[in-house]
Amino acid sequence: MAFELLPLPYDSEALAPAISAETLGYHHGKHHKAYIDKTNAAVTGTDLAGKSLEEVIAAARGTNQGLFNNAAQSWNHGFYWHSLAPSTSGPSGDLADKIDEAFGSLDDFATKLKDRGAGHFASGWVWLAEKDGKLSIEETHDGDTLVDQGFNPLLTVDVWEHAYYLDHQNARPNYLAAVIDGHLNWDFAADNLARGTAWTYPA
Ligand code: FE2
Repeated sequence: MAFELLPLPYDSEALAPAISAETLGYHHGKHHKAYIDKTNAAVTGTDLAGKSLEEVIAAARGTNQGLFNNAAQSWNHGFYWHSLAPSTSGPSGDLADKIDEAFGSLDDFATKLKDRGAGHFASGWVWLAEKDGKLSIEETHDGDTLVDQGFNPLLTVDVWEHAYYLDHQNARPNYLAAVIDGHLNWDFAADNLARGTAWTYPA
């Protein structure tokens, strides 16, 4: 079965002004859709047809860079839409304890995530991830992903220019501040932590 473009889990106006409906229209409807379409085209008629997106990513890493880029970007964007929410409440329970343990406080975590995102050279992703019970901030370049690298990703923020240029032009720190302070989906992060294994792209 072909991979499908996940619907946005909120209205296209719901993240404005941090992320406008216009940005979501291009980012979801054009960029994410293109990654999905190219992944489907590349696996059709091969022995990867019918595999999960996670299986395609793992098989393509190091063997088929074109397919890997499109499959990983398909996964990363699905995960990113769920990492954002119209409003944010902050972490609680076990997740809050692990944030404090790893970063000192939620404010310190937010500052570090903004700094890592702003300092990330060129295109890529910044992540809050869990491995062996510990939380860390990770970065991946271009279309790379954490899902097949032994991490349980909890949240991600896209730092490609297409994520923010229409709304913030070249001011990536302004985008990061607006998203990290106002739109991180801590319920999604808590679900991912509680599950203990990486989120899977819906079949
Ligand atoms: Fe993107």
